[in-house]
Amino acid sequence: MKIVLGPASAELGEKIAQLTGIEKVPVVAKTFPDGESYIRLVGAVQDEHVVIVQTTSSPQDSRLIQLAFIAAAAKRNKARKVTAIVPYLAYARQDKIFLEGENISIETVASMLHAAGVDALITVNMHAENALARFPFPAKSISAIPLLAEYFTQKGFKKAFALAPDKGAMHIADEAQGILGGEAGHLEKQRDRYTGQVNVAKKDFNVKGKTAIIFDDIISTGGTIVGAAKILKELGAAKIYAACVHALLIGDAEKRILDAGVEEIIGTDSVFSLASKVSLAPLISKELKALKSG
Ligand code: R5P
Repeated sequence: MKIVLGPASAELGEKIAQLTGIEKVPVVAKTFPDGESYIRLVGAVQDEHVVIVQTTSSPQDSRLIQLAFIAAAAKRNKARKVTAIVPYLAYARQDKIFLEGENISIETVASMLHAAGVDALITVNMHAENALARFPFPAKSISAIPLLAEYFTQKGFKKAFALAPDKGAMHIADEAQGILGGEAGHLEKQRDRYTGQVNVAKKDFNVKGKTAIIFDDIISTGGTIVGAAKILKELGAAKIYAACVHALLIGDAEKRILDAGVEEIIGTDSVFSLASKVSLAPLISKELKALKSG
C-alpha cells in the first residue's frame, strides 16, 4: 500500500503516513495560466494498492479533477487498486431530486471518479450516507464525531447538552451524547429551497445554566448554527459551542456565529480553517491499518 498526498490534503496525508508507517508518494500539482489542472505522481505505484488522500472542499471542481487525474495516473502507472480517501466529499448534499429538472450531483461525481480509476472510496461523516448506495464501487463513510466529543471531554465538558440543529443531525448528537454522557435533543429546521434561507424553530429543552454544544456535519454559511445558538440563548444556556466535522465557514460565517454568542467553533482538518482543531489522522489511519490487514 502507498499513500498519495493529494494537493488539497497534503498535510493530513503526511500525518497519516507517519501514523501508519505507509510509504508516501508526493504529487506535483500546478494550475496553468488558463485555469487547467496538472498533476504528476513522484514515485512508483506499480502493483500497489494506492490510497489517495484528497479533500474536495472549495475549490470543489478543481479538487475533484485533481483527484480524478491522480487516480487515472495511478492506474496508467499500473497501480493494482485505487482507494480515494475524501475527507469532505463535495456535492454530497445534492443526493436526490429536490426540485424538478435537477441533477443528482453526487451520483455524477461518483461515476466520474469511477471512470477515472477509483475502485473504492472512504469519506467522513457524509451528509446522507444512504447516497453511497448510488456509487458504482464500494464506498463508506466513517464518523469523526467521537473525536469531536472527546475534544470536549478533555476540556472538562462532560455532561454537556448535545444539540442537533435538525432531526437529520440527531444521530450525530446521539453519538456525541454517548461520549459526553449528558442529554441530547434536536431543533426543527426548514430551509427555503429557492433562497437557501434557514429557519430554526424552538423546542423546549432544559439547558438553563448548562453548557450546550451544537453538533452538525457541516457548517457552511453559518445560518443553521446562528439560528440554533439564538434559541439556546433564549433557553438560558450558560455557554454555547459549535462543533462540526466540515467547517466550510463561507464568507463571514465565523464572525456571525461568534456574534450569536458561540464561544468557539471546533472542526476537523477535513477542511482547513481556523476551526481545524481536531485531526482526522488517527481515525483514517485506523481505517487504513484495517484495510491493509484485511
Ligand atoms: C445540512 O442540512 C447540513 O447538515 C448543515 O446543517 C448545513 O449544511 C449547514 O449550512 P449553513 O451553515 O449554511 O446553515
